[in-house]
Amino acid sequence: MKNILVTGGAGFIGSNFIYYELEKHPDRRIVCLDALTYAGNLETLEKALKNKNFRFVKGDITDRKAVEALFEEESFDAVVNFAAESHVDRSIDEPEVFLKTNILGTQVLLDACRKRNIRFHQVSTDEVYGDLPLDRPDLFFTEETPIHTSSPYSASKAAADLLVTAYFRTYGAKVTISRCSNNYGPYHFPEKLIPLIIANALEGKELPVYGEGKNVRDWLYVRDHCKAIDLILENGRLGEVYNIGGHNEKTNLEVVKTVLKILGKSEDLIRFVKDRPGHDMRYAIDPTKIRNELGWYPETTFEEGIKKTTQWYLENRSWWENIMNGDYVKYYEKMYKNR
Ligand code: NAD
Ligand code: TYD
Repeated sequence: MKNILVTGGAGFIGSNFIYYELEKHPDRRIVCLDALTYAGNLETLEKALKNKNFRFVKGDITDRKAVEALFEEESFDAVVNFAAESHVDRSIDEPEVFLKTNILGTQVLLDACRKRNIRFHQVSTDEVYGDLPLDRPDLFFTEETPIHTSSPYSASKAAADLLVTAYFRTYGAKVTISRCSNNYGPYHFPEKLIPLIIANALEGKELPVYGEGKNVRDWLYVRDHCKAIDLILENGRLGEVYNIGGHNEKTNLEVVKTVLKILGKSEDLIRFVKDRPGHDMRYAIDPTKIRNELGWYPETTFEEGIKKTTQWYLENRSWWENIMNGDYVKYYEKMYKNR
């Protein structure tokens, strides 16, 4: 594969994937299509923009005309779709944009791909399976677990997944889907739990923990997710779903306390706040299929990964401070004003 379109690459996981690909496949060209919503930050791609194998295009995946024009201009071998509205709390306040981007945007990309017989990979989430009870640690999400969504976010991701499998069955589109557990690592937008806790703790601000902090998430270091997608793109079976997760289950309170310990900050900053409506209790992935079929395994333990991540936020303070104070939106104008 010589030329890959990565949508949503100015966000958290997409940007990490771009860096992973540029490093792992130096002969590969990566084009990033990103609308630069509040969650997109071109500063994140600063190093990639210096690489001759990388091109950034500002554009919306729901804009059929613009997407078609890009596909006519470029000759893509594959598309990896990260572009999405991704924050559950925002989906509870304003669901509509989630349906538009996550479902209709995916359809636009699927149409562009099937017309040209281009390989398409959909980056999905374990949240499409709903949640598991806390008192059944023996239960895990497999690829056969029924779709059973809780939030407008997960419902929109599930709808997109169903569309992807429908395009496989109906049109023979060359598709795969991956469903990953919660990621953490560099360039994670500081509205999500781990980066929010790190940033707030460093600024001595309160740390909001929903409910009693007992909800469990299955944390995976973002680079391990990128490795899995790279493997699926190379060797995944068409029409298949692959679950990705590293058996790293932690309660939210455990995560918050671990971060505070690494930073040497007081637990007095923790505030238990009103719970999220419909809050999923536990996510836990069974990654047997991707391990057996593609030889994937996670390389970074939670203990290592959370230290590396905390260190990254300490060393890249201006990156998240620019987000917190809103300056990051000016980066695109600054970079492109003379082009
Ligand atoms: P993110 O919110 O950090 O980034 C999303 C990116 O998509 C941003 O750069 C944004 O500008 C772009 N975007 C949004 N709407 C767009 C549109 N209409 N057209 C073009 N670009 C648009 O999200 P993330 O955490 O990096 O998640 C990426 C993907 O991975 C999502 O599809 C998400 O559902 C999935 N996922 C995330 C996690 C996680 O823990 N963060 C876990 C599993 C799966
Ligand atoms: P989040 O990072 O939003 O990811 P997701 O909802 O997709 O799992 O939240 C992770 C967990 O942390 C989730 O159980 C909600 C909880 N949470 C808090 O307790 N406080 C917060 O401020 C946020 C953003 C999340």
